[in-house]
Amino acid sequence: MKRINTRGPGETRRLAARLGKLVRPGDVLALSGGLGAGKTCFVQGFARGLGVAKGTRIASPTFNIVLEYPARIPLHHIDLYRLTDECELAEIGLDHYLYGAGVCAVEWLDRFPALAPPDRLEIELTIAGPRARTLTVTGHGPRGAALLAAWPPGGGHE
Ligand SMILES: Nc1ncnc2c1ncn2[C@@H]1O[C@H](COP(=O)(O)OP(=O)(O)OP(=O)(O)O)[C@@H](O)[C@H]1O
Ligand SMILES: [Mg+2]
Repeated sequence: MKRINTRGPGETRRLAARLGKLVRPGDVLALSGGLGAGKTCFVQGFARGLGVAKGTRIASPTFNIVLEYPARIPLHHIDLYRLTDECELAEIGLDHYLYGAGVCAVEWLDRFPALAPPDRLEIELTIAGPRARTLTVTGHGPRGAALLAAWPPGGGHE
């Protein structure tokens, strides 16, 4: 587990962009943390690092559930906040994304723990002040461990 603090949305985006350069096809990021913690902000920076075209607006997919962006590796930005049961997840074909060849950034995956793929990088954001956020990063499975070893740079090990 690593913990790192950011002092504004720009810093969170820059940190996330570095991760965007490291991911490989099939990687899954699980983003958790309360409303306004910075999950979507993180995905915005991550998308830029992954090569989503400058000027592409990364909006919250709350009403769409899944938004796809072309990039070095296709990005699937998924938000499960509004889903109430697992049947709906089957309908959107969540597994098709989670176990596909793109990269997934999933907000609120922690609402459905049984669906979390064994291999993933978890990033929990907590609000530490008006512009301060703490990111707690945990790696699961071999890819999660490899990403955690490489990122975040300077993140304190525990
Ligand atoms: N250090 C920081 N890192 C990220 N966001 C920050 C930071 N400081 C302030 N903010 C602000 O916090 C808000 C985070 O909003 P964002 O939509 O990313 O949250 P979210 O976790 O996706 O919320 P939701 O659960 O509603 O989807 C933005 O308005 C952003 O500017
Ligand atoms: Mg969001």
